[in-house]
Amino acid sequence: MTQPIAAGSLAGKRALVTGSSRGIGADTISYFANAGADVVVNFRNKAPRAEKLATQLRELGVRALVQGADLTDPESLAAMFAEVQREFGGLDILVLNASGGMESGMAEDYALKLNRDAQLAVLDAALPLLGEGSRVVFVTSHQAHFIRTTPTMPEYEPVALSKRAGEDALRERIPALAERGIEFVVVSGDMIEGTVTATLLERANPGAIEERRESAGKLYNVSEFAAEVALAAVEPVPADNTRLIGDTSSFNA
Ligand SMILES: NC(=O)c1ccc[n+]([C@@H]2O[C@H](COP(=O)([O-])OP(=O)(O)OC[C@H]3O[C@@H](n4cnc5c(N)ncnc54)[C@H](OP(=O)(O)O)[C@@H]3O)[C@@H](O)[C@H]2O)c1
Repeated sequence: MTQPIAAGSLAGKRALVTGSSRGIGADTISYFANAGADVVVNFRNKAPRAEKLATQLRELGVRALVQGADLTDPESLAAMFAEVQREFGGLDILVLNASGGMESGMAEDYALKLNRDAQLAVLDAALPLLGEGSRVVFVTSHQAHFIRTTPTMPEYEPVALSKRAGEDALRERIPALAERGIEFVVVSGDMIEGTVTATLLERANPGAIEERRESAGKLYNVSEFAAEVALAAVEPVPADNTRLIGDTSSFNA
């Protein structure tokens, strides 16, 4: 993996990425640790993976906390941030990466609960830990970011609508965050090859990935997109608080 952030440049910083035991979240938290940050690996189900990743990251000489928390459960959220406060005393980077809504057997409103309500709940719970100069990054997909103007596959539509609702609700917090010196940025990408979501969508719509690759010219893989998420946490925030990754010409703005 090419490191997007210079080694040592995050020394003394503390970063938490929600849903970081696997996928994009795991690569993002690894980039922070490689740049010298102390990190919190958050998982819901994948405890062994989270522990394994934390062990690897500690070998880099950084502190790595492992915190299991279902973000839709206020009590487990509160417990996670209490532990972060105890161990790290605060946070400099919060990446809202965890997402879902295509899991089977969940209530109809689960996508909205996780992708909107829980994102706000995480931000609220983290707020006392975020000081001046800290950064919050919300991760989303082009299919969700542009859902109001560009239709997506029916299987993904409830997730897309809920993620866009989450993005909008978080954006409403920008002035209040700015007052506290906290920056906020949305980072959005096209379908990412090799992810569970892309695999599920491909299964329901054979050829969907190839079609997106042709429209976009290139699709990012997990480590490439995670590098963009990590950069969003350290590079200057654009005036519209938005970083669109890759080609977006097939989405209506
Ligand atoms: N996949 C794509 O094609 C794509 C494209 C563009 C943008 N993105 C965005 O990138 C981000 C990561 O996507 P991904 O594909 O890596 O996701 P993923 O493979 O589905 O992983 C989701 C992560 O969220 C965690 N999670 C799910 N529900 C949770 C809950 N209730 N509480 C706490 N954690 C929970 C999971 O933890 P456990 O494993 O422990 O359950 C997992 O670590 C998302 O915001 C997504 O919208 C994805």
